[in-house]
Amino acid sequence: MTKSPTSKSNQWDSSFAFLMAMIGSAVGLGNIWRFSHVVYTNGGGAFFIPYIIAILILGIPFLIMEYGLGYHFKEALSNILKKIRPHFEVIGWFIMFTVFMILIYYMIIIGWDFIYLILSFFKGWGTDPAGYFTNNIVVGGNDLSNIFNFILPVTIITTLLWIVIWFISHKDLNAGLSRVVKILVPLLFIIMAAIVIYALTLPGQMIGLSELFTPNWSSLTNIDIWLAAFAQVVFSLSVGQAVAVTYASYLPENEKLIDKVFIVAGANAGFEIFTAIGVFSILGFMSLNSGIAVSDIATSGSGLLFIVFPEIFNTMGSIAYFIGPAFFLCVLFAGITSALALLEPLSNAITQKFGWSRRKCVSILCIIGILGSLFYSTGSGNYLLTVSDSFLNEFGILLGVILQAVIVSWYFGLRKLLPELNYEAHFKVGSTWIFILKIVLPIVLVLMWIIGILNLITTETMTTLSIEIVISAIIIIVPIILTKLPKRENIKTSCE
Ligand code: PHE
Repeated sequence: MTKSPTSKSNQWDSSFAFLMAMIGSAVGLGNIWRFSHVVYTNGGGAFFIPYIIAILILGIPFLIMEYGLGYHFKEALSNILKKIRPHFEVIGWFIMFTVFMILIYYMIIIGWDFIYLILSFFKGWGTDPAGYFTNNIVVGGNDLSNIFNFILPVTIITTLLWIVIWFISHKDLNAGLSRVVKILVPLLFIIMAAIVIYALTLPGQMIGLSELFTPNWSSLTNIDIWLAAFAQVVFSLSVGQAVAVTYASYLPENEKLIDKVFIVAGANAGFEIFTAIGVFSILGFMSLNSGIAVSDIATSGSGLLFIVFPEIFNTMGSIAYFIGPAFFLCVLFAGITSALALLEPLSNAITQKFGWSRRKCVSILCIIGILGSLFYSTGSGNYLLTVSDSFLNEFGILLGVILQAVIVSWYFGLRKLLPELNYEAHFKVGSTWIFILKIVLPIVLVLMWIIGILNLITTETMTTLSIEIVISAIIIIVPIILTKLPKRENIKTSCE
């Protein structure tokens, strides 16, 4: 297999940059709001067992494979799959395009966060944060009747954030992405550490922590808990989403790949467990003050970030003017570094196939992104977002993960990656790793996928189903077009 040369402009300037980019992609909105809720609703302390198993048999082995692939081929996922068998190219585009579709609504959540960052300086959400959120940010209900009703602040802020992403991403790798993650990721960890330490000093923190960690052992027999653990690891560790392949393809020679996988997986899990400790300490504080049980306060996603936290900041007095902005700033940094990661696979693949410059490609994708995000900045945006989020992840990404595991382990052969992976590694991979990827993972994941799809179908309204059909059509047709379009020779991948 010949390697296409990676030009210097498309190569990380240091291992540290690669690590920060990988951690930045992993640590995102999923770690801050999703994890706490997932642990809490899935058996509390007992959840850590399926969670750790999911990291060990899915997260780490799969990331090792992705690093190995990107590093070995030094190419975009579509090209790699095409080299394995020409008709697999379309699967690469399918995965990368689905990831781009996720970015289109991910930007909206970052937009909401930015609005709350501004509001947090003066508690601009007022005395009724729930009312503020539903009257000013999400507005419409669970249907499409408000699809032409734009929520102006969300539209404007999200567009501005897209421009920020464009500004960072259109530059050469080391002038843009690399420079930004090296600053934002360490800052993110420092600010979050300060918030969690402060949260642990609050009265009532033990009420929250015991709710979070008290194990409900009987839950371990429930298959849904296991599904939740695997789904959390896929989303949170950015597994199988072409990001790790793309970022690893920018690595120079002689890198210790496996060590880096452990660092990234450890940092991601550490960050989310640590954040959950902070979140539940704060919920315990709220419970003590209000007399409401933690179970009634703990919601996920938008509810936790944009309703519960503002309510808590309202009860905190003037320290809230520091903690509030620090918290929303953290979410913003986590969001931006993940958004950059969600854009990179598709933009890299297009520059490689069609010979466009990075600048041209990123500019066009950002314009498409801005237009796509418009749908989600309307009164029906929140509904569309919820439907897209579960469908793209449970149907699209999971399918992509299964296909990659099968193609790489059965058609390419994982043994070919062993020399590069085991180079100077403290922990070497071999037959067990191959067995997990070739046999265990496909079986476990296909099972999960089928159960997930059945869950989706049985809980569905007609409108939701129609939206899912439209999304399916888009994520099937666009990749087919991208595959069929002819490749341009004499590619250039730098910015100029
Ligand atoms: N891992 C990110 C999160 O936890 C989401 C993400 C998925 C980012 C895939 C990049 C690629 O929010």
